[in-house]
Amino acid sequence: MRFSLLLLAAVCLAPAMQNPSSAELCGRCHRAIHEAWRESSHSKAMESRLFQDSLQMAEKDFGADTRKICLSCHAPLALESGDLQLVRKASWEGVSCDYCHSVRDVSLEGRNPRASLAIGSNKTGPLKDVTSAAHTSSYSAVHTSSLVCAPCHEYRNALGFPVLTTYSEWSQSSFGKNDTTCQTCHMAEVKGDVVDPHIQRAKTATINLHNMPGSNSLQQLSGAIRAQLTTSRREDTLLVHITVSNESAGHHLPTGSPMRRIELELRADSYKGHRFQAQKVYQRRVADQAGRPLVREHFAFMKGASVISDTRLAPGEQRQETFSFDIPPGVPTKVEATFRYYYSPMARSETQRRVTFLSLSRLVR
Ligand code: HEC
Ligand code: HEC
Ligand code: HEC
Ligand code: HEC
Ligand code: HEC
Repeated sequence: MRFSLLLLAAVCLAPAMQNPSSAELCGRCHRAIHEAWRESSHSKAMESRLFQDSLQMAEKDFGADTRKICLSCHAPLALESGDLQLVRKASWEGVSCDYCHSVRDVSLEGRNPRASLAIGSNKTGPLKDVTSAAHTSSYSAVHTSSLVCAPCHEYRNALGFPVLTTYSEWSQSSFGKNDTTCQTCHMAEVKGDVVDPHIQRAKTATINLHNMPGSNSLQQLSGAIRAQLTTSRREDTLLVHITVSNESAGHHLPTGSPMRRIELELRADSYKGHRFQAQKVYQRRVADQAGRPLVREHFAFMKGASVISDTRLAPGEQRQETFSFDIPPGVPTKVEATFRYYYSPMARSETQRRVTFLSLSRLVR
């Protein structure tokens, strides 16, 4: 039984060698990794309605060739195999197994980091001395380094403007300097089967979780920021101080797409009816060559030319924000600070658009 399964998989895998395989196929043996990957944004990078809407706008505004630019990161296997019409299943799988595990090397020469790929029967990865009847494999140092992430998390557009800078933010931070890799924080090592034990016993008993928690994970988000709320008085004014720090992100907070932002909302409601509200935004705002602010992803990717302002928190940075409200002493007041992560203006519903990940409150007398 075990033998025939192996044989079956080997036979099925063989004809697909020239073309990338679907993650479903890899998942037959690498079950645990496949399940985690399916939860990741990587697996939805093409399928996501939000991305598709944006792609459509990009093609309308900048011509059909734009598709190649966008798919190079959102559906790299489609581009690699020339399937721009997305006929194959693997093309719809976004950032899929056969892309990452065909990477041979990554070069930082030139405008953008570039991966060299060899899609075929040999899979590259972090393990040494493994044997599999389904495919050969070779150890690859690049998979244990942040370099493997760079081709998609660092991007200069045709105008030379850096649109995505996560990799360079990381490499300039203390995390980059002592080589705390992207994988350390985004691909935790956990107990698990590299290969389904019904198929083969693997040598190692741990896997690197492939679900890539980022801003879509509340746990990852709330661990990233540390905030404290204190108050003081200046005559008839109530001063609220928020100390906020980028506690554990290995890059700016937020990072990535310039549409992403963190909003800090402050409210003060007194028992005598004073109601105040104030906001601070952490974001890197970008403009086109004429200085017009860009408020859609596809514009930022294609037309981004300068930075209007950058209020994001650098790795390890601590900042103190002070808000003042005209509330006299002796009036009990509820002060509340709320941190929200804002994803994209392309989102159709409020729940897709932003999420509250941290709240602090305090009663002041
Ligand atoms: C028939 C089962 C089977 C299928 C299907 C399969 N693999 Fe594997 N794979 C294995 C086995 C067995 C190992 C070796 C595990 C060990 O010894 O620890 C392995 C190892 C690997 C490794 C580790 C290589 C290294 O040196 O780090 C990678 C990466 C990998 N597979 C990727 C894939 C990808 C991508 C696919 C789909 C295109 C796939 N596998 C399909 C069985 C399979
Ligand atoms: C975004 C790139 C990326 C994608 C997509 C991806 N992997 Fe990986 N994979 C990696 C990296 C990087 C490592 C090594 C992590 C480390 O050692 O720190 C790895 C490790 C592995 C290993 C070795 C065991 C382990 O967990 O360390 C196997 C097997 C594997 N991946 C299979 C798969 C399969 C199957 C899929 C699709 C369901 C997949 N990978 C999707 C990047 C990726
Ligand atoms: C082939 C391109 C590609 C590679 C290689 C790649 N990514 Fe991504 N990654 C993407 C795209 C595209 C998205 C956005 C998907 C979306 O939201 O539509 C993304 C999203 C993410 C997110 C955000 C998750 C969230 O919560 O929104 C994290 C974290 C991430 N990647 C980490 C990594 C790490 C770590 C590596 C290297 C091991 C890596 N990526 C390699 C293309 C890539
Ligand atoms: C020291 C831990 C740490 C390291 C190292 C690290 N990250 Fe992150 N990353 C985080 C945390 C925490 C978050 C969640 C907060 C946020 O979304 O900014 C995050 C969020 C992200 C996001 C989500 C942003 C978004 O727009 O959704 C991406 C993409 C990402 N990281 C990619 C990377 C890449 C690529 C590397 C390596 C070059 C890397 N990270 C290194 C901790 C880390
Ligand atoms: C160099 C790789 C790269 C290219 C090229 C690229 N993207 Fe992305 N895109 C990403 C990454 C990585 C993220 C999300 C994570 C982040 O913020 O870092 C993302 C996020 C997005 C999002 C937000 C998705 C969400 O879930 O919030 C949209 C929409 C988007 N891209 C559209 C496009 C369009 C349209 C194009 C082509 C004009 C394009 N992208 C080109 C890598 C790329």
